[in-house]
Amino acid sequence: MKLFYHGHSVVKIETNGYTLLIDPFITGNELTDLVVEEQQPDYILLTHGHNDHVGDTVAIAKQSGAKVIAPNELAIYLGQQGLDTHGMNIGGSYTFDFGKLTYTKAFHSSSYTTEDGEIVYTGMPAGMIIEAEGKTVYHAGDTSLFSDMKLIGELYSIDVAFLPIGDNFTMGPEHAAIATSWIKPRIVVPVHYDTFPPIRQNPETFKERVEESDVRILNVGQSIEL
Ligand code: NI
Ligand code: MN
Repeated sequence: MKLFYHGHSVVKIETNGYTLLIDPFITGNELTDLVVEEQQPDYILLTHGHNDHVGDTVAIAKQSGAKVIAPNELAIYLGQQGLDTHGMNIGGSYTFDFGKLTYTKAFHSSSYTTEDGEIVYTGMPAGMIIEAEGKTVYHAGDTSLFSDMKLIGELYSIDVAFLPIGDNFTMGPEHAAIATSWIKPRIVVPVHYDTFPPIRQNPETFKERVEESDVRILNVGQSIEL
């Protein structure tokens, strides 16, 4: 399994011969190294409906034929735009051909703002657990610190966790370090920072607070092989 960080919350996973793209926010993401036209994932996985997470999902799904997995109301909305979708909800698991996916709680909000400025309700925001090739990956999505992260740490032996540290819209470095102590991942990667002025953050602030886990501050395009 290979995990690539592409700026903001964008993570690409190669596992069991499939390519998964999580929260493909490329257009308007000045940090990313990805080009929309070059993306050919098999699956697009979405944590919630905010535009900085849904991103270029419609264009990428249409050009690649990727199946889009999303919280149910977001899946319905994207299905209405002609995409092949699979709706899920918090606490639910489903075994796909790439592996098993479980949606977890995230404490945040979720809506999509259209080009006309209309705000569409897109269900509950979520995080996700991906189990494949005997490895377990947690992408927290956008969230505050919440005590059920202890439960996630109890239920799963997590190899890699992607946690937001940007503050303002999500937890910041101090709370993300507490989250890490509860989730107990072998490796933790800080995400969702530096993209916009309100979420500028020095990831070293996070790293110096984490005691047990291996903190990997990934530059855009860098990867971890498990
Ligand atoms: Ni959000
Ligand atoms: Mn966000």
